[in-house]
Amino acid sequence: MNTKETFIIEGLAGEKKLSGEVRINGAKNAALKAMTAAVLFDGQTTLENMPDTDDIHTMVEILKKLGATVEWGSAGEAGRERKALLIDASKIGSAHINAELAKTMRASVVLTGPMLARFHKVTFPAPGGCVIGARPIDLFTEGYKKMGAAVSLNDADCLYNMAAPGHLKGTEIFFEKISVGATETLMMAAVLADGKTTLKNCAMEPEIGNVAEWLNSCGAHIAGIGTPILEIEGTGGRLLSPQKPFVTIPDRIEAGSFLILGALCAKDLVIKDCRPDHLESVISALKDSGVPISVAMGAHGDGKNGEIRITGNTKPNSSFKAFNVRTQEYPGFPTDLQAPMVAYLTQATGESSVLETIFEGRFKYVGDLSNMGADIDSINPREILVKGPTPLRRSSDDKGLSAHDIRAGFAVVLAALTGKGRFKISNIHLIDRGYEKLEERLKALGADIERKNSASS
Ligand code: UD1
Repeated sequence: MNTKETFIIEGLAGEKKLSGEVRINGAKNAALKAMTAAVLFDGQTTLENMPDTDDIHTMVEILKKLGATVEWGSAGEAGRERKALLIDASKIGSAHINAELAKTMRASVVLTGPMLARFHKVTFPAPGGCVIGARPIDLFTEGYKKMGAAVSLNDADCLYNMAAPGHLKGTEIFFEKISVGATETLMMAAVLADGKTTLKNCAMEPEIGNVAEWLNSCGAHIAGIGTPILEIEGTGGRLLSPQKPFVTIPDRIEAGSFLILGALCAKDLVIKDCRPDHLESVISALKDSGVPISVAMGAHGDGKNGEIRITGNTKPNSSFKAFNVRTQEYPGFPTDLQAPMVAYLTQATGESSVLETIFEGRFKYVGDLSNMGADIDSINPREILVKGPTPLRRSSDDKGLSAHDIRAGFAVVLAALTGKGRFKISNIHLIDRGYEKLEERLKALGADIERKNSASS
């Protein structure tokens, strides 16, 4: 990770000059969870179609620091090999998840479930230090308590100590809030527990099902996959057997990001190796707005190796109609595409209300878009009003642009590509957390984008 690197982008000034094909990588949000699930196995697991992004490398380091063996390999058909990870958790000798690494990536909290289930104890840094309420993990800790674990927060080092002498016990948990992380973590914890666990009001994101189906193919008993109620019959401590590799599903957020980018910047674009059925809310909104999109579900009609195509996208972006966005749990509109979609809406004609219902503080990038000429009003901390179309250009005070998080980072890349002039984007290490070699893939489509060390740009 190099925090000094920047992207330099020459904007297309609204012209749709990009074209070509882009292949979608494995879903970061499934791959990270499968890496934590490797802790539940007796012996070495193989995880295929792994994205090579910084968050995956952070999880590799966290697992290694606990004592696990982690090696990179490759798997897949000849000529279409994808990265694989081989993980063996049998030598884990520490219960302390590295606090410095864990603080850089919230998803590391998911590891507490498998650790508690197999090794019966784990420590984890309180998100946001000891400040209660900041980025809460209450759904996790309350769930563990219901399963018989003791959870305490040590004020001296701000670490949660979690311990479950003996096995975790099956129980019934109703999540008061729908949470992707809590659903998959309690599900994994329940896999090795004594007795049956019923989880209610679960998240239904496809990444959870991807991991659950793999666990079932290796000896777990999870019923209700893809529904709000999961029933898990615990193995009573018997570890899973690594009979089958985990194959990561295509990253729907990466596919959606390229789709929005294609709508604004490409005449023709083929998004390959994706699951169009995982992106229906986004495809439907863009189609209704006027983007010429077609989908093919893949050879077996099951969505695997599907394609999304933009064809003959020659009308000006101002011909696209504005629409309202309300982020929701799956299958609703994904919060991770809220920022890229706002970049799109600045170019469409009309007014759009954008309501963020999942996370607070997800509009930090709006200042950058406004500096570029976007007309965006903040209604309240969770809602903005976008009025389009507005040409985007380099700001007169030339402050430059910044990636505020993975997805907001993509949104400013998209705004710069659409805009007029030469743009510099800093903090791109945050984009690297979720998008593999973004500049190389955009260059292959015809974009003028360079990665530079800020000292030399
Ligand atoms: C995951 C995804 C993230 C995506 C999000 C929602 C990963 C690595 N990240 O994040 O990209 O944006 O789902 O689709 O998979 N909450 C609590 N208490 C808890 C846990 C969560 O109040 O103990 C709240 C959160 O603050 C948030 C909401 O629940 O407001 C939903 O968050 P959650 O679904 O848990 O998101 P993540 O799993 O962190």
